[in-house]
Amino acid sequence: MTAFDQPSRFHVADAVLTRWHHDPHALVQVLRETQAQTHWLPRDLLTHIAAALRLTTAQVEGVASFYRFFHLQPVGRVRVLLSDNITDRMLGSEALMARLCERLGVAPGQVDAQGRFSVDRCSCTGLCDQGPALLVNHHQVVTRLDTARIDQLAGLLLAGAPPEHWPADWFEVQDNIRRADVLLQGLPAGAAALATVLAQAPAQLLAEVERSGLRGRGGAGFPTARKWRACAEADAADGQRCVVCNADEGEPGTFKDRVLLNRHADELFDGMTLAARAVGAQAGLVYLRGEYRFLLPRLQEALARRREAGLLGRNAGGVTGFNFDIAIHLGAGAYVCGEESALIESLEGKRGAPRIRPPFPVQRGYLGHPTVVNNVETLVAVAHIARRGGAWWAGIGTPGSTGTKIHSVSGDCDRPGVYEYPLGTPLAQILADCGARDPQAVQVGGPSGRCVPESAFGQAIAFEDLPSAGALMVFDRTRDLFEVARHFARFFAHESCGLCTPCRVGTELVVRRLDKLAHERGSGRGSAFDIQRLHELDALLHSGTHCGLGVSACNPLRDTLAHFGQAYAQRSTAAQFQPEIDLDAELSSARRVTGRTDAGAHLSTEHREG
Ligand SMILES: Cc1cc2nc3c(=O)[nH]c(=O)nc-3n(C[C@H](O)[C@H](O)[C@H](O)COP(=O)(O)O)c2cc1C
Ligand code: SF4
Repeated sequence: MTAFDQPSRFHVADAVLTRWHHDPHALVQVLRETQAQTHWLPRDLLTHIAAALRLTTAQVEGVASFYRFFHLQPVGRVRVLLSDNITDRMLGSEALMARLCERLGVAPGQVDAQGRFSVDRCSCTGLCDQGPALLVNHHQVVTRLDTARIDQLAGLLLAGAPPEHWPADWFEVQDNIRRADVLLQGLPAGAAALATVLAQAPAQLLAEVERSGLRGRGGAGFPTARKWRACAEADAADGQRCVVCNADEGEPGTFKDRVLLNRHADELFDGMTLAARAVGAQAGLVYLRGEYRFLLPRLQEALARRREAGLLGRNAGGVTGFNFDIAIHLGAGAYVCGEESALIESLEGKRGAPRIRPPFPVQRGYLGHPTVVNNVETLVAVAHIARRGGAWWAGIGTPGSTGTKIHSVSGDCDRPGVYEYPLGTPLAQILADCGARDPQAVQVGGPSGRCVPESAFGQAIAFEDLPSAGALMVFDRTRDLFEVARHFARFFAHESCGLCTPCRVGTELVVRRLDKLAHERGSGRGSAFDIQRLHELDALLHSGTHCGLGVSACNPLRDTLAHFGQAYAQRSTAAQFQPEIDLDAELSSARRVTGRTDAGAHLSTEHREG
C-alpha cells in the first residue's frame, strides 16, 4: 500500500479531522493539513471529509477550489512556486524560472512525468527584501535565488531529494531591520507588567487607547478605540466576543508584519490580550497567511509559554473571570482574505468572499459574535500604549497621525528591509536612508496604494498626506512604469474573488486592454480610444465594486497614466481605433468552407480581392 492510496489518505484525513474536533468551521485548516501529507485533494477524499463534517461534497469542493494552495489535480511530490511580485521580476525571477524549467524539462504549471515535482508562480511571498524567493510545498521558503542556486535546486529535484535534504541555509529568512524606532526596539518582556495593565478596568484600557489617537495600520486607518468601543457595546446574544489578528499581509511588497511576527510575537499576543480585556472577548484568532507557515512553530511555542505563565487560559494574567486564549489559523493563498469580512468567512471554513455590510464585523463577525479585526502592527502598538501610556504615543508623529509606522522597503535601493519612522516623516528621507538608486517613482502602500512621482517625494507619510499600509517599492529611471502597472493589473485580475461582475470582468478587461497596448507598441494600432476605455474601466471599478480590492484595482493604472503618460502615449499612436482582432481574417475559414472569394464575403473594401 503506498502512502497515497485511498485507505491511507482517508486515514490521514481522519487523524486531521479528529485534531480539529470534526468542526466544519475548521474546513480550511482540515484541507490544508490533509493536503500537506497527501499532496493533493482527490474527489473521493473531499467526499470523505464532507461526510465527516456533515457537509455536501459540493460545499467542500467549492471551498477547496477557491484557494490557490489547494490542488484538485495531481501535483508533484515537491511543489515549487516562484514568487511573482514586480520586485522579484526586477531581480530576475523570470529568467530564473525559465532556467529552472529548462533544466527540469517542464513548463510552468506542469508536473514532471514521474510525479516528482511541479513548478509554478505564486503572488508575492512577502520576501521582497531578500528575493527572488520561492515557496516549497506551501510551508517553507527559499530566498536569494540566483543561477547557482537554481541549478543546484534542479539537480535536487531531478534526484527526488525532499526539501529536508536541501542545504539548511537556503531556508534562512533575515529580518533586515534597518531602522528601529519604538516598536522594533521592543518592550521588556514580563508577565508582571502585562498583569498590571490587564488589572485595569476595561473602560480605562479603552480610554488609554483613545488618548493615544492610534489608527489601524492595515490600510484604512480606522481609529482603533472607536472600533473597540463599537465591539464592546454591540449586542452579543451569548456574551461571546472575538479578537482577530489580521496577519494575512498579502499586499505585494509588504513584509513588515513578517518581521513583527518573527521578533515581537509576545508584544502581538499582549496586544490581543489587552484588546480582549477591553472589549470583553473570550476567543482570540490569528489569521496567518499560508506563505508564512514557516513562522508557525515559533508562534505556537510563544503561545505555549504564555499558557504556562498564566497569561492565557482561565483567569488570564491573574485577572479573575477573564478567560481568554488564542488559536492560529492558516490562510491558503488568497489575497482577498486580507479583507476583514472575507478573512472571517475563511476562518469559518468557507470561501473567502467579502461579506455585504452592514452588519460590520464589530456587530456580527466570527460565528456571529461581535469581532474586532486588527492588523499585527496595530496590536503591537497597543501593547506599547498600554504600558507606556496613550499620551506618550500621541506625542510621537503628527496630531492627525500619531505614533510610528513600519515600512517594508524594496526595489531599486541599496538597503532593502524594514524601516520604522515617526509618522510625518517625508518619503524623501526614507529614500535617502535606504539608498534609493535614481528613483523616478515609488509605489507607496502596495499596488492598492499610490504610485508617487519624483515631484511628490517631499510628501510626508501620514494619514493626512500620503497614507501607507507599509510597502514602499522603489523604481529607478530605467523601469517602464507602464509595465509596472500592467503587472499589478494582472495581480488584481488573478486575485479577484469573482463575486461581483464589475470586478471579475473589469479587472480582466483592464489586463486585455493593457496587453493590447503592450503588444501594439511600435505597430501603431493602439489609440486614444484604448486610453479612454481604460479611464472608463477605472471609473467603473472604483464606483461599482463590492470591496476594497475592486475599488483600488485601478490605482496603479490611474497614477501611472497621470504621471507617466508618455509610457502610454508611445503605445497609442494610431489616429483611429484599431480592433484587437482582425475580423476579416477571422472570417477566412468561413470563406474557405463556402468557397466564396467575392467582395461581399469580406468586411471592408480594403480586404476585397479583385
Ligand atoms: C483586498 C484587501 C486586502 C487586505 N489585506 C489586509 C492585510 O493583509 N492585512 C491587514 O491588516 N489588513 C488588510 N486589509 C484591511 C482589512 O480589511 C482591515 O481593514 C484591517 O485588518 C483592520 O485592521 P486595522 O484597523 O488594525 O487597520 C485588506 C483590505 C482589502 C480590501
Ligand atoms: S470587488 Fe472583486 S474581490 Fe471584492 S467582492 Fe467583488 S469580485 Fe470579490
